[in-house]
Amino acid sequence: MKSADKAGTATIRPASDREAIRRLLDSCGLPTADLAADPGPRFLGAFKEKSLLGTVGLEIYGETALLRSLAVDSGHRGCGLGRRLLAAAEREALNQGVTRLYLLTTTAEAFFRSRGYRGSGREEAPEAIRRTSEFSTLCPRSAALLFKELSAPAA
Ligand SMILES: CC(C)(COP(=O)(O)OP(=O)(O)OC[C@H]1O[C@@H](n2cnc3c(N)ncnc32)[C@H](O)[C@@H]1OP(=O)(O)O)[C@@H](O)C(=O)NCCC(=O)NCCS
Repeated sequence: MKSADKAGTATIRPASDREAIRRLLDSCGLPTADLAADPGPRFLGAFKEKSLLGTVGLEIYGETALLRSLAVDSGHRGCGLGRRLLAAAEREALNQGVTRLYLLTTTAEAFFRSRGYRGSGREEAPEAIRRTSEFSTLCPRSAALLFKELSAPAA
């Protein structure tokens, strides 16, 4: 069965199994050191039955949020799951009153730029974002800081 067929029926919903998330992020080379923080990021997952195929996290600070840990299992890439997870996280952030979403990336800048994200100087980042573990310790200083203004789709 082709990968696209396997992932096509995946559903996206809140994910709470931190160990499964940790395993997936580890396998994708993304940071996990702060997953146990309290309250910690909230995660969405892409599930095929009970299997976690992809994930994305949000750390919300009022009208600003950090999008992090976007990862799709290597056997299920290239069939739209990353795009769907990102769109679902943006919808969730908007529903929570977030108007500006930030992220750090060393590996997928072009992916995010093609979805409306623009570069920001690190010094321009809001204090809440600068205080996150990803910003202050876990991501290298060479990581690109990107942001996107969120707005509700026209009715
Ligand atoms: C980045 C990632 C989540 C994309 O997931 P995916 O399910 O393969 O993405 P999609 O199938 O929705 O891809 C959509 C498009 O993005 C492109 N794309 C995928 N990964 C990309 C990357 N790393 N850089 C640039 N473009 C990328 C695809 O080619 C595709 O292009 P198209 O629409 O022109 O065909 C996945 O590659 C991944 O888990 N990478 C490892 C972890 C990582 O780097 N995460 C980002 C850190 S914040």
